[in-house]
Amino acid sequence: MTKKELWLLILSLCYLRITAQISIVPYPAVLETMNGTFVMSNETKIVLVSDPLKQNEAEVNQFTGWLQFHFNINLQRKNTLKETQNLLLIYSTGQMSEKYELNIQPSKIIIKAEGAGLKNAFETLKQLIHGNNNQKAIEIPSCFILDSAQFKWRGMHLDVSRHFFDKQFIKRYIDFISMYKMNVFHWHLTDDQGWRIEIKKYPNLTATGSQRKGSMIGHYRDHLFDSISYGGFYTQSDIKEIVAYAKTKHVTIVPEIEMPGHAMAALAAYPNLACNKGPFEVATQWGVFDDVFCPKPETFDFLENVLSEVISLFPGEYIHVGGDECPKSRWKKCDNCQQLMSKENLKDEHELQSYFIQRIEKFLNKNNKKLIGWDEILEGGLAQNAAVMSWRGTEGGIAAAKQKHAVVMTPGSHCYFDHYQGNPVSEPVAIGGFTPIEKVYDFDPVPVVLNEQERSYILGAQANVWTEYLNSPASVEYAVFPRIAALSEALWTVPENKNKQRFLGSIQEHFRYLDLYQINYSNAIYGTQAIINKCENKPYYCLQLTNTLFENGVNEITDSLLLIETETGKHIYQFPLVLDKSFTGYAQYTRGGKAIGKQCFISFKHHLACGMPVQFKTSPSKYYNQGNLVDGIKGEYPLNNKQWLAWNDTDMEATIDLQVSQTLANITVGFYRNEADFIYLPSKVKVYCSEDSVNFNELDILPTIENNKTQYNYTFKLPNKQYRYVKLVAICPTMSDNGKVGSASSSWLFADEIEIN
Ligand code: ACM
Ligand code: ZN
Repeated sequence: MTKKELWLLILSLCYLRITAQISIVPYPAVLETMNGTFVMSNETKIVLVSDPLKQNEAEVNQFTGWLQFHFNINLQRKNTLKETQNLLLIYSTGQMSEKYELNIQPSKIIIKAEGAGLKNAFETLKQLIHGNNNQKAIEIPSCFILDSAQFKWRGMHLDVSRHFFDKQFIKRYIDFISMYKMNVFHWHLTDDQGWRIEIKKYPNLTATGSQRKGSMIGHYRDHLFDSISYGGFYTQSDIKEIVAYAKTKHVTIVPEIEMPGHAMAALAAYPNLACNKGPFEVATQWGVFDDVFCPKPETFDFLENVLSEVISLFPGEYIHVGGDECPKSRWKKCDNCQQLMSKENLKDEHELQSYFIQRIEKFLNKNNKKLIGWDEILEGGLAQNAAVMSWRGTEGGIAAAKQKHAVVMTPGSHCYFDHYQGNPVSEPVAIGGFTPIEKVYDFDPVPVVLNEQERSYILGAQANVWTEYLNSPASVEYAVFPRIAALSEALWTVPENKNKQRFLGSIQEHFRYLDLYQINYSNAIYGTQAIINKCENKPYYCLQLTNTLFENGVNEITDSLLLIETETGKHIYQFPLVLDKSFTGYAQYTRGGKAIGKQCFISFKHHLACGMPVQFKTSPSKYYNQGNLVDGIKGEYPLNNKQWLAWNDTDMEATIDLQVSQTLANITVGFYRNEADFIYLPSKVKVYCSEDSVNFNELDILPTIENNKTQYNYTFKLPNKQYRYVKLVAICPTMSDNGKVGSASSSWLFADEIEIN
């Protein structure tokens, strides 16, 4: 080891020591570190110096119970303050609030807080205790913390319809929310695949609606089902127990009863509430269904009765009524619906949906509750006082804030924790998307287009955890952790105090904290990506490895990224690696020579079009324009945005200049297909060749199509002639070509790679 390396090692150890001391997440508003430590032991006395209203007893008991359970330390409870050393003093502020002051000195710890604030102070203290536990004694670094939240709605949602999670897990989920100082649990209780809340007046909702006769297995696109009956629901007594539990954790529950769409389970139980006669079944397939609640008097009676019971169970101010993804096809053909529209002067079915929600809102408001719904409730006019949960991007939230309505941001891009968080190839099956932890961390719920006054309507944000592909507590934990920590900091900590490098260092410390609770977290942050770019001054591609931690300057000194060639087992540390021939291998994150995290497989195929210029007649969609069609890497399944290029309702027309005229044997172009996401195969693929880039001849040849489930490779065998330019035209099918007449969606075409040999 050179002198410089030794110094770097010492510095890195010092750095790790410092981060170990203060790896608090979410990062506090004010944190001042000081010299010395407080040693917590069985000798430590805890005193509630002032607590006239007995507000703080419960918090103190929870904390002392935690310390006893995890560290076998029993604090001594004292009523009066006699000693001057080894004290944990709790002062009530007399104001229930989320704020707290935590002052750790070598002789004593002083907390000034009440209710939620005291709970938050203890969450911080727990993190500090855990981070500094050396078995014999708990040394807590001296510091001063003054802390409060940036946003008031810091939420986590959980879908218990697609998969059911028992009472015990729901309590654990509430613990997760609370441990990161979040405060809202959005409980998605009803959907097409199961009604999960007991309603006394309508026992069939659970007797029939909570059970389905099978479920989808694997990914939606595979269209496979099992025939195992599946069900579960919460009794009202369970709900009361959970609501009471949440109260002790200072978490407010927002129950969601979906309407008018996502209602198959309710209609299976009470088919009279639909436009058509039925019978209906609790859905076994994921997705959106045409049969929805019909806005007729008996439906409103039913919903008001259901909501009355819901209102009596949940003390929070909001009731979520869904409102998303409601197809209007049944309403268009229903006499009831059409008569109601003409009676109420509603110009289309969107206004009918708006009428539906407004009517429910009046009922909720009359019962002292506020309505919140997904952003579709904006369509056809927003109900008078409704709050909007913006999920299809932030646009709905922006529109609502401009109309002076409260907003909770939950855009799919940053807040859907059912999306992949690491390389999809090596992650458990997920619905799609790519939302790694650093993207969640970067989320700012307040769009820059809003002015000062409009910004005040943004209550905060939440993550949504849809469970089509999460069928066990362990899989939910994996989706949630550690992204919940990133969201908590995005919502609690003011932007000036955010620091991604610090956060990514802290989160690795927190992995040990999560181990304490036996949480099944993802270590996708150790995932390594291969980046393939044109080499500088060389006619080849070069391979570079990257990783979130390295990109953000974390762990560079102690850890390394390594590439291993499969065939030879050769280890490669020097980058960039010039790819002047085909290469197969895998990348691995290592610490002290030991592998951490998953391997990233790389298969590079060298061919004639590699690195050649490609021109498009129409540019790919701005959402999928990062890929490269001629980089030697075939688009992977599941979808990886860095590889595929996509066109929406537009043909792909790509012209490749091979630079020199040459005899070509064949061309292969790969397409992706996932009809659930409206991604279709081209209706036709044509090949043109040219010597001069002006005169192109269409070649009269048909491709052979090789299909490996989702990727379709179209290969054209070329005539024995010389060409310099090759043009490929893939015709994007219309939705009616796809047999989806009148669909509101449009077709996508996804392509990668164009291989020429
Ligand atoms: C939603 O994801 N359908 C709100
Ligand atoms: Zn109807």
